[in-house]
Amino acid sequence: METAKLSGIRAFVFDAYGTLFDVNSAAESIQDELGPQWSSIADQWRSKQLQYTWLRGLSGNYVDLWQVTGDALTFALRAHNLATPDIHARLMNLYLTLKPYPEVVPTLSGLKQRGLALAILSNGSPRMLSAAVNGAGIATMIDEVISVDRVRTFKPHPSVYQLAPQLLGINANEICFISSNAWDAYSAKAYGFRVLWCNRSKQPAECLPGTPDAEIGSLTEIADYLA
Ligand code: LAC
Repeated sequence: METAKLSGIRAFVFDAYGTLFDVNSAAESIQDELGPQWSSIADQWRSKQLQYTWLRGLSGNYVDLWQVTGDALTFALRAHNLATPDIHARLMNLYLTLKPYPEVVPTLSGLKQRGLALAILSNGSPRMLSAAVNGAGIATMIDEVISVDRVRTFKPHPSVYQLAPQLLGINANEICFISSNAWDAYSAKAYGFRVLWCNRSKQPAECLPGTPDAEIGSLTEIADYLA
């Protein structure tokens, strides 16, 4: 079947964690030490991190994602009876340079060659995002790295999505937003972006406002949607 092209796109804006950077790669890299429970630790770390962003956003108790990520890790290690300061410090340090998914570099460089603006819009703190972008070797390809820290709340608050059109100086409907986090993809679509949901793990559709324009299995498929 022919893919419906997205016309009039001037910029691609990417979510960071789970979309460009593999959030499991920190725990995975010390799996010998963590043992078979490494992936359960990684899952709980990520899900607590997200829950804390939503709870802190709703209650107006913003702290940056570095603090939230550390708190979520404290909880996950506690829940796995592994509450040692050494492991906490090492996993946090590894979180600064998470592995990019294998298709990230070729995809971004292909889009850049077509003259499109590329940006990141993330819950990450400026320091975390700068470390991740430099660690992955993609700094020269990204025009704007936008952190929620500017508005001191988290996705999916509309004030976060609004940062992209505001800072890029283009309309929301000229932006194609890409996230692997379903709730982020739906919320970005509800805000007014065109959206590709990079549904790596073949999750079912969400029951939320803002059905994405299309689902892709990996970032390589973005090119199929370019008019
Ligand atoms: C981010 C989280 C949602 O990078 O993955 O904003």
